[in-house]
Amino acid sequence: MDRPVTPDDIRRSKLERRKLACLTAYDYPTARLLDEAGVDVILVGDSVGMVVLGHPDTTLVTMADMLHHTRIAVRGVKRALVVADLPYHSYETPAQALENARRLMDEGAGAVKLEGGVSRRPQIETIVSARIPLMAHIGMLPQNVREEGGYKLKGRDEAGIVALIEDGRAVESAGAFSVVIEIVARDAAQRITAALGIPTIGIGSGEHCDGQILVTHDLIGLFPWFTPKFVRPEAQVGTVIRDAVRRFVDRTHAG
Ligand code: KIV
Repeated sequence: MDRPVTPDDIRRSKLERRKLACLTAYDYPTARLLDEAGVDVILVGDSVGMVVLGHPDTTLVTMADMLHHTRIAVRGVKRALVVADLPYHSYETPAQALENARRLMDEGAGAVKLEGGVSRRPQIETIVSARIPLMAHIGMLPQNVREEGGYKLKGRDEAGIVALIEDGRAVESAGAFSVVIEIVARDAAQRITAALGIPTIGIGSGEHCDGQILVTHDLIGLFPWFTPKFVRPEAQVGTVIRDAVRRFVDRTHAG
């Protein structure tokens, strides 16, 4: 596709049985490289908090951070759909969600994402009624990591699967054009995917989703101190950087 990817293209990909390849970017060169490589969606995720800002989790990421990183990432993108995350506590009420979604769109995002299913239905409806495209996010919700005490697998039993399908149906009927499903058991992800008319984009949720998303730093080994178990890195960029810098240091010290 030569023209820019739209939320409708993403929604239609499910009918067309076209799998979606999605990655995160938070800056101009990375966004540009990902766009040139043909990703469908570039997520300016609040994972920026961990892999760029050095926080222990995403709960310390602010609206100011997300506005800044969205502004610089969109400059590198010509084709992919740029989705920007609403950070922790930025969508407590439908009115606050709409105001902050508008601010991210004003920075050039093509859509916004927030975490939560049934409980976030009013926020999603309000954002979508204002004609702002919304990607939902269910399953393990990283913004709840402190309450949950870790990144724990969801959809392990029948009750858990039924609740996830309810979340998926709620975000679809509220108007989301796609939904991320994070760290959900493979069979549960398959059932959610079969139950929904919008594409599911999995992270750590098996191969049956309609697309896959990863944090780019995990995929290319740019955050070598921690890699989630479900990621198969395609490169070790951290090692390349360290080795190049060592050679520069040696060459300079040697005069
Ligand atoms: O912030 C993020 O990078 C995300 C992905 C893990 C889906 O939400």
